[in-house]
Amino acid sequence: MTLPGPAATGVAVVGWGVALPDATVTNADLEARLDTSDRWITERTGIRERRVGGTTGELATAAARQALVAAEASSGSVELMVLATSTPDQQLPATASAVQDALGLGCGAFDVNAACSGFVYALVAGAGMAAMGARRVLVVGADVMSRVTDQQDRSTAVLFGDGAGAVVLDAVEGPGQLLGWDLGSDGSLRHLLQADVGGYVRMEGKEVFRRAVRVMIDSSEAALARAGLSADDVDLLVPHQANTRIIEAACERLGIPMARTASVLDRTGNTSAASIPLALGDAAAAGRLSKGDIVLLVGFGAGMTWASAVLRWGP
Ligand code: COA
Repeated sequence: MTLPGPAATGVAVVGWGVALPDATVTNADLEARLDTSDRWITERTGIRERRVGGTTGELATAAARQALVAAEASSGSVELMVLATSTPDQQLPATASAVQDALGLGCGAFDVNAACSGFVYALVAGAGMAAMGARRVLVVGADVMSRVTDQQDRSTAVLFGDGAGAVVLDAVEGPGQLLGWDLGSDGSLRHLLQADVGGYVRMEGKEVFRRAVRVMIDSSEAALARAGLSADDVDLLVPHQANTRIIEAACERLGIPMARTASVLDRTGNTSAASIPLALGDAAAAGRLSKGDIVLLVGFGAGMTWASAVLRWGP
């Protein structure tokens, strides 16, 4: 599904924030209790450590609060909040309700579950609501994957971590910063990566890997085409942080050098809906984003879902 054309009302990213739990689990920690090794994990995934702890609501609140401060935005000015998560703290209500209460927001708030593609889904949904009249939208991606990961299963325990990231979107006249997007889903592949209610993540790793590379490429190209751009125009690729080898394979096929990608994977592991805003925030903090830069966000995950967004950075 793609956007029909430039909207009369666009959005600008006016602030962002991130949150990670304090506790770190290194590859050495995992080596000590599982039949695995630092070398295997590093070579096969690129992950060296991950952060674990807290609740989805706590992490989302912390990241959102930081984003509001950065945007110099009061709680009262937020007209909608969209929280992407597949690890809600409760079956109901939505975790967005707890975050809204903690932040003292007086607006509509809801969860979106598109697994690791969730943040980009929420971003596009937020931009759509801005086009429909919401003047300020808070978009958050937060997951506590450690809660749904079997810590005795070496095939998944090494991969996932916890965290949150948030952006504040302001409605602006004209097309704004979101130049193109692509959202997709193929529910016939949902068996590849799943967790029952109250259960742990089960995954066909090799097949997820193979499909992830394909959908990253196709979705990136679809969003770029909608924006009237090509991969050559991308100044910074912010991919879902699942596996360095997936990112390398997609970059090679897209013709985007790895030096032009944002990465926090070695420090965070796969934080699902938090991974893209964490990597975006890290790149911004490192001064890797300049006014006018073309930034391509691309996510993929359980569903199977995928999602891309092309942003022109800066006011
Ligand atoms: N430590 C050591 N050995 C491990 C291991 C671990 N943590 N996990 C699996 N292995 C073993 C396997 O048992 C297998 O052993 P065998 O050859 O004796 O049967 C061997 O390593 C190779 O396993 P395989 O699954 O073929 O490895 P792989 O190269 O496909 O890498 C993943 C496994 C999970 C890292 C990789 O498939 C992957 O990243 N897939 C995508 C997962 C993902 O991103 N999920 C989230 C999407 S949002």
